[in-house]
Amino acid sequence: MELKITCIPGDGIGPEIVAEAKKVLDAVARKYGHTMNYTDILMGGASIDVHGVPLTEEAIETARNADAVLMGSIGGDTSTSPWYQLPPNLRPEAGLLAIRKALNLFANLRPAVLYEELADACPLRKEISEAGFDILIMRELTGGLYFGERKTIEENGVVKAIDTLTYDENEIRRIAVKGFEIAKKRKRKVTSVDKANVLDSSRLWRRVVEEVAKDYPEVTLEHMLVDNCAMQLVKDPAQFDVILTENMFGDILSDEASMVTGSIGMLASASLNDTRFGLYEPSHGSAPDIAGKDIANPIATILSAAMMLRYSFDLDQEADAVETAVKRVLQEGYRTGDIMSQGCVQTGCREMGDLVAQRI
Ligand code: IPM
Ligand code: MG
Repeated sequence: MELKITCIPGDGIGPEIVAEAKKVLDAVARKYGHTMNYTDILMGGASIDVHGVPLTEEAIETARNADAVLMGSIGGDTSTSPWYQLPPNLRPEAGLLAIRKALNLFANLRPAVLYEELADACPLRKEISEAGFDILIMRELTGGLYFGERKTIEENGVVKAIDTLTYDENEIRRIAVKGFEIAKKRKRKVTSVDKANVLDSSRLWRRVVEEVAKDYPEVTLEHMLVDNCAMQLVKDPAQFDVILTENMFGDILSDEASMVTGSIGMLASASLNDTRFGLYEPSHGSAPDIAGKDIANPIATILSAAMMLRYSFDLDQEADAVETAVKRVLQEGYRTGDIMSQGCVQTGCREMGDLVAQRI
């Protein structure tokens, strides 16, 4: 099979971790007889430095013409990087939001899994972590507060900022369908998270999710308020299977869930539209403080590439091979600094990529 992949190395540790994911994809290509066709585009600070904007139309077109996009990370240190002196619509993050919108990537899947090998890194008490957990956060990605009208104005000498949270029923329905579809293949439970005790958008969310649930009698639906969900994630994460939620709640809860696994450097993500096309990126950020030092953990990006093989190319066997290779490397005791524990062998970013690639 010929796989046409657009790569976005991006900023910070992005280029290093994408290079390792490509190494692993190349090993997959050699073993299973595929051809990988990569084209790089600039996004975020890397694009600002060259083009003055965080994403160009040409870059979007290149991505649109690929079968999938593999991304590293974008952004820099918000208090020291000159990118953050620019107006908000020209900063690195605006590029990411623009590509999500342009490619209609409304469904963001963020698995938060507690790896047995890394159970020691879990910050929760043993009684809780022992139960293990495997959560999939299905985050709406192209609506809500992120894309509503926003402005900063002055009223009677007082500065005022306005962000707008809107959702229409169609936006809610399509993400709910994605949530129930994936729950069907998992433990068949959806926890829909909202703030329906306060927000109209959440009350509509709840109503539409309940309508969609009628088409999935085999899936159990429960509703949970977002503040309670934040608590439950640390109190009893094993209760969750699929968490279905709107854009900003999903942003916050997915960071919390990943921290609960103790290894944010391990967590992949996929952003999908209604076709097989997807953008795959680690759940973590660009970590500018450790960029270029060959110490970043490339596993989240490698596992994102595995999600790409599975969701965009239907190559389950190849995706399994990548996930198994990662597990083997961990079982053999290799760790990057972020997940290092006593008795293990510490590796750098490149060596970790080599170790995984060798085990394909
Ligand atoms: C994420 C990030 C982005 C988001 C930022 C970089 C705009 O935090 O992918 O979770 O908030 O969506
Ligand atoms: Mg985030």
